Amino acid sequence: MATSEVNIFCRQMSGIESDKGYSYDDVSRIAKSLLDRVKSRPHIGIICGSGLGGLADVLENKEEISYSEIEGFPVSTVPGHAGRLVFGLLGGQQVVLMQGRAHLYEGYDVHKIILPVRVMKLMGVRILFVTNAAGGINQDFKVGDIMIIKDHFNMPGFAAVNPLVGPNDDRFGPRFPPASQCYSLRLREILRKHAEKLGMNSFMQEGVYCFLGGPSFETVTECRFLKVAGVDATGMSTVPEVLVANHCGMEVCGISLITNSCVMEYDSKQVANHEEVLETGEKRAKDMQKLIGAVVADLS
Ligand code: HPA
Repeated sequence: MATSEVNIFCRQMSGIESDKGYSYDDVSRIAKSLLDRVKSRPHIGIICGSGLGGLADVLENKEEISYSEIEGFPVSTVPGHAGRLVFGLLGGQQVVLMQGRAHLYEGYDVHKIILPVRVMKLMGVRILFVTNAAGGINQDFKVGDIMIIKDHFNMPGFAAVNPLVGPNDDRFGPRFPPASQCYSLRLREILRKHAEKLGMNSFMQEGVYCFLGGPSFETVTECRFLKVAGVDATGMSTVPEVLVANHCGMEVCGISLITNSCVMEYDSKQVANHEEVLETGEKRAKDMQKLIGAVVADLS
């Protein structure tokens, strides 16, 4: 049996379909099928995290496609993740927005989670905004703060959970991509400029995001460990998509909404919960929309 046949056989036999087999040709076919269905020709992509999908409401000339209608697209099972690809105009720019994303903890293979990013790339997207809800490790952060991500910590990467594991196709990017500049300095500066103009300085932060597999929230010891490691906020998404976007040469901007404070004391009565995450998302959604809208409008 040839290697490709073994791969296909393994995919068919496993309960959860692995998409290590989503080749460049597969991704090209999916991208082309989407472009055949819409008039839009997006060059900016936006991935909306928990409770932040409302940004789609402000798009003009909207064209929507449900993930369930797109070959290979993972459908999120989590409340707050609608599961739609929305094309349209934001601040005069052609964008494609993911309303909802899939996560490792839902049982998806990391290679499946990142398929939409590669599809965006082959549709012509050059700049990617990635948003998420995150717990504040940095005790100076308040619930409702917006953190510009300057770097990340790929904790599952320590166990080789990285979407770039497997055969490398150089048409996507190099075998050993650097990861020390995943988050564009240019975009971070533009973001800070607009946050200031919009009077948001009192709740803007900049920091390091840590990706954990979830779905359990962190133990007190885990939170303390992350603090010592230099992490400011933690969540269950973003890093796989950013690694792949970086690999294929996209310029990336990451933004976390601090939806809760991580529990740092062993005797604390405070506990993290998803309802709090969604509630904070709703409260700050309009500010996040204004900010991303202003930055996107400013891009050339
Ligand atoms: N931990 C992990 N993921 C999260 C959190 C958190 O505290 N808040 C929102 N997503």
